[in-house]
Formats: sequence, structure tokens, C-alpha cells
Amino acid sequence: MKITDFYNYRKPGPKISMVTAYDYTLAALAAESAVDCVLVGDSLAMVMHGEPSTIAATADLMALHTAAVARAVKDKLVVGDMPFLTMRKGLGPAMEAVEKLSRAGAQAVKVEGLDGHGELISHIIQSDIPVMGHIGLTPQSINRLGGYKTQGRDQASAERLVAQAQELQERGCFALVLECVPAGLAGRITGLLKIPVIGIGAGQYTDGQVLVMQDLLGLYPSAPSFVKKYLDGRRLVTEALNNFDGEVKNSIFPAVKRKNDENSERDQSLADAPYGAAVCR
Ligand code: KIV
Repeated sequence: MKITDFYNYRKPGPKISMVTAYDYTLAALAAESAVDCVLVGDSLAMVMHGEPSTIAATADLMALHTAAVARAVKDKLVVGDMPFLTMRKGLGPAMEAVEKLSRAGAQAVKVEGLDGHGELISHIIQSDIPVMGHIGLTPQSINRLGGYKTQGRDQASAERLVAQAQELQERGCFALVLECVPAGLAGRITGLLKIPVIGIGAGQYTDGQVLVMQDLLGLYPSAPSFVKKYLDGRRLVTEALNNFDGEVKNSIFPAVKRKNDENSERDQSLADAPYGAAVCR
């Protein structure tokens, strides 16, 4: 999907799939897949860097990963996350962060929350950078929320989320991520908005779903409970590593080349080449 496909989205439309990517190799797989768009989420602080929350992500770190992803993803929308506090230090620092992400290859930015930075969201959009909103459980607010809990469970907080969703649409966001809210509330917001609503841990009534790639591949050790694992990645990768280890220790890999092996000539030339001169790939 391109940004114009989001602008032209008419409900009920085809469901939208979005996946995170943080590095070139997995982004290239996302690029080749049928998945609609790619998010360079600030969850990379946790998944790629082992941090306990997304608070550790900075604009420079986001730009580094965004650039790696953008080198791989050419024909799908790449969205970059505005990290912790970048929307709270005023116009200059916010636009510097937007600039870093855009120059790194993000075609849109995702912004958590709304209260206190609505004007800034409008300014980014008026600067021709499309903004994806993100409300519900906003992980950058973990210290206020006190845990990764479902949001909008009581009437007052549900109404606040409905109002925020409507304001984000009015301010010109092209899509909205709704994280960890009850399915009924997510369905209500999805029905009220014209822009596509992409859910995560928010049930089945949204216009699309987003998951962290390492979660859906079963690679990250502590994925949220709502995640469906489409691959038993940790088991498969560990198995492959153990197979490699076993073959090295038992002198099975690299295999001894026999005279008539089809690769033996090339292998011999690699073996004979001075270090660094051989082309191995
Ligand atoms: O950073 C992230 O991974 C996100 C989620 C919505 C997937 O923002």
C-alpha cells in the first residue's frame, strides 16, 4: 500500500496488514511478502536492544533502523515512530526528529497520544509529512499507566478515546493505531472514523492489524498474550544453531571436498587465494 491507498480507503474495505521491521534482512522479507505496510516501531528498543521499554528509543536510533528498513522496502509505505518525548519539547525538536526519520526514508510518522501535542500533529501534517495516530495503550506512557494494561475499560476513558480518535482524524491523520482496547470499543471507533483503524490487541472489528514481526515469528521471548505466533521461530532458530554447532564439533561442516564435486574448482581457488582476495558470495 502507498499513502494514496490510505487516503482512498473506503469502509468496509479490504483488511490492512502492517508489520514492524527494524533491520534490512527482515525488512526485505516484509517487502517480498503480501503484507501491506511496514512500521519501524520504537519497540525496536526492546526487541533489538533488549531495553525494558520503548523509552530508550531516540530519534537517532529510529533513523538508523529506518534507513536500514527503507533500503529494503521500496514499494510499500514505511512509517517511522516518533520516539519518547520528541513531541513534548516544542516545535523545533519535534520537527528535527521528523526530519531525521523522513531523510532516513520514512514516508510517514506515527505519533503516540494527542493531549498537549495536537497542534504539533497538525503542523507535521501541514509540513507534508503524513501522520498515523496511535492511542489506547501508548507504551511511551508506561510510567503513568503503570503497566501494559488494556485501556478504555470504563465509560469515561472509553469516551476520551473516542474523542481523541475523532480529533486525530479531524487534524488530518491518515490512519490510526488502536492498541489494547476492548474489541467493542475498537469496533465503535472504527465505525465512527473514515480513516482506517489498525488494531493491536484490540479485537477483530478494526480495519486492519499490526504486529511486531519478531512476535509473530515467535522470536522475541516475551511477546504479549494477544499475539498469534505464525512460526515457532525460537525453536527453529535454536535447532539450526545447535545443528551448526554439532556439525562443527563433529567436523561435518565444512564438508571435505571430493575431486569431482561441482564446486571443488571454485573452492580450491578460494583456498589458494590470498586472504581477502577471494570473492566468497
Ligand atoms: O513500536 C511498535 O512496535 C508499535 C506497535 C503499534 C506495533 O508502535
